[in-house]
Amino acid sequence: MNLASNVRPETPSDYPRITQIHKLAFNRPNEADLIDLIRQSNRYIPGLTLVAEIDEMIVGHIVYSEINLVNQETISVLGLAPLAVHPEFQNRGIGSQLVQVSLTLAKIRQYPLIIVLGDPKFYAKFGFQPSVDYQIHSPFPVPEEYFMVKVFNDKIQHQGNIIYPQAFSQV
Ligand SMILES: CC(C)(COP(=O)(O)OP(=O)(O)OC[C@H]1O[C@@H](n2cnc3c(N)ncnc32)[C@H](O)[C@@H]1OP(=O)(O)O)[C@@H](O)C(=O)NCCC(=O)NCCS
Repeated sequence: MNLASNVRPETPSDYPRITQIHKLAFNRPNEADLIDLIRQSNRYIPGLTLVAEIDEMIVGHIVYSEINLVNQETISVLGLAPLAVHPEFQNRGIGSQLVQVSLTLAKIRQYPLIIVLGDPKFYAKFGFQPSVDYQIHSPFPVPEEYFMVKVFNDKIQHQGNIIYPQAFSQV
């Protein structure tokens, strides 16, 4: 295990390296393009969009933006996407480190919950559960267990449909 020595919010001078990491990790440009669109939108949360560094070299990146949970009223919740670790630095705990640090920061900011579309094998260990368990419904036709929610306060009920900003359907 060789964890990142530093996790901090991204800054504009980090953008080229971040683009490179997402293109390499996903083997396509879509996620890097999505990040550009998120940054240009009013749903971008710079303080929660973090880089992981080893010896001042960025090796991983996690993005958060505000998405809508729609029921009788619409509330802003967090959407986690995308997350990537440079292929040469995967499977040594850096992705988990980015998730853990960001969860702490998200909780401090008092967001009620986080939505992620991802592999339950990776996200369940951080307390993410299928969103259908909370009657929160995905806009995507994906298997139920892949659309997950991390609820910070189980005593407060949040139900409804998740609506992503337009950026997510543009890439
Ligand atoms: C997914 C990813 C961010 C994980 O980061 P990481 O630093 O490699 O992860 P960690 O070392 O903290 O954790 C590794 C664990 O995640 C699992 N894992 C790694 N990549 C995974 C993937 N794409 N899907 C599901 N699980 C994955 C490993 O099997 C390992 O499981 P274990 O702890 O039970 O052995 C990274 O592998 C990556 O960038 N993958 C390509 C991009 C991607 O698929 N991102 C999707 C995130 S929704």
